[in-house]
Amino acid sequence: MLVLGIETSCDETAAAVVEDNGHRWSIRSNIVASQVEIHREWGGVVPELASRQHVRDICGVVERALADGGAGWRGVDALAVTQGPGLVGSLLVGVSFAKAAAWSLNKPLVAVNHLAGHIESIWLEHGPIALPAIVLVVSGGHTSLYLVKREGEYELLGRTRDDAAGEAYDKVAKLLSLGYPGGPIIDRLAKDGNETAIRWPGTRLTNPDRNAPERDGRFDFSFSGLKTAVLRHVRQRQAELGVEQLPHQEIVDLAASFQRRVVETLIERAFAAARWHGAKSIGIAGGVSANSRLRSEALAKAQRSEIPVYIPRLSLSTDNAAMIAAAGIRQLRAGRIAPADLNAVAALAL
Ligand code: KG4
Ligand code: ZN
Repeated sequence: MLVLGIETSCDETAAAVVEDNGHRWSIRSNIVASQVEIHREWGGVVPELASRQHVRDICGVVERALADGGAGWRGVDALAVTQGPGLVGSLLVGVSFAKAAAWSLNKPLVAVNHLAGHIESIWLEHGPIALPAIVLVVSGGHTSLYLVKREGEYELLGRTRDDAAGEAYDKVAKLLSLGYPGGPIIDRLAKDGNETAIRWPGTRLTNPDRNAPERDGRFDFSFSGLKTAVLRHVRQRQAELGVEQLPHQEIVDLAASFQRRVVETLIERAFAAARWHGAKSIGIAGGVSANSRLRSEALAKAQRSEIPVYIPRLSLSTDNAAMIAAAGIRQLRAGRIAPADLNAVAALAL
C-alpha cells in the first residue's frame, strides 16, 4: 500500500510517499520545500507569509514526491495530512489540498496529529522497537514526553510549562544576533565553547501544572527560567563591556553552556521517565533531536544504562511528510478515515 503524506503545519511544505508492506514501512520519496530563507529576514516565522508560500509550493512539492516515489496520482492508495497543531493558515493549505485530491481520486484521507508524526518517525526509521517505550518529542513548538505501551497509542507523561526547547534555542540565538533558526547555529558554535564557563540556575518543578492538575508534574519541563537567565547574563556583560555584540569567545562559551543545560535536562527527564515506567526503549524525535550533543549524549547514556535509544536520521527529525504518512498508516489500520468536512485545528491535542 502506498500512502501520500502532506505536511504544511509551519514553514516547510512537504510531501512524501511511504510504502506499507505489512510489517515494515519504506520511504519511496520525501520532499521538503523550506521557507527558512523567507522568514530569516524577520527573525522568525511570519504566519501570513508562510501560508502564502505553501499555496505557491504545494502543487510542485506533491507532484515531485509522486514522481520520485514512482507512484503517480493513480498509484497512491490513501492520503494522510497534518490536521494540527500548527499555524492555522498554513495547516489549511495542506488540509484543503489533501481533501480535494482525495475526493477527486476517490481515495481515503486520514487526518494526522503533527506530534504523532514526530513520534512515528522513530518507527519509520527503526521499525518496531521494544515496548513500553518512552518518546521525547522536542521541537520548536513542543517538548513532551509520551509513554507508548502499544504501537500507535500515546500517553502524555509531561510537557513544557512554558517555552519549548527549540523555542529557547531560537530566542537565545536571536538575543545574541546569531540568526534564524537558532538551534543549528548554537549547536555549531557550541562545539568550540567551554561548556562549564557559565553556571546557569537549575529549574525544579515541584508544584503540579495548574493547567493539568490531574497529571503529576514530575516529568514536566520549563525553559523560560534558563532563557531569562541568559538574557540577564547577556545584558550584564554588554553593560560591563560597553558593547552591543559580545566577544566571539564569550558567545561560544555561552552557547556551549546553554546547550549543555538544555541537553542534560532533556536526557535526565527522558531516562527518569523510562526508569519510572519500566520502559524497554527510548525514542527521541522532533527538530531538536537533530542536535549533535543531544544525539551523542543520549546514545552514550543508552550504553551505560542498557536502555536502547532510537533517534531518526536528520531528515526525519525536522519537519517532513514521510512521518505524516507513517502516522497516517496507523490511522488507516485503525480504520479512522477523515470526514469530507475535515478542518484544520491549530491547537489539536494528542
Ligand atoms: O520539528 P521542527 O522542524 O518544527 C516544529 O515542529 O517545531 O523543529 C524546529 C526546531 C527549531 O526550534 C530549531 O531551532 C530546532 O528545531 N533545531 C535544533 C537543531 N536543528 C533544528 N535545535 C538544536 N540543535 C539543532 N541541531
Ligand atoms: Zn515539527
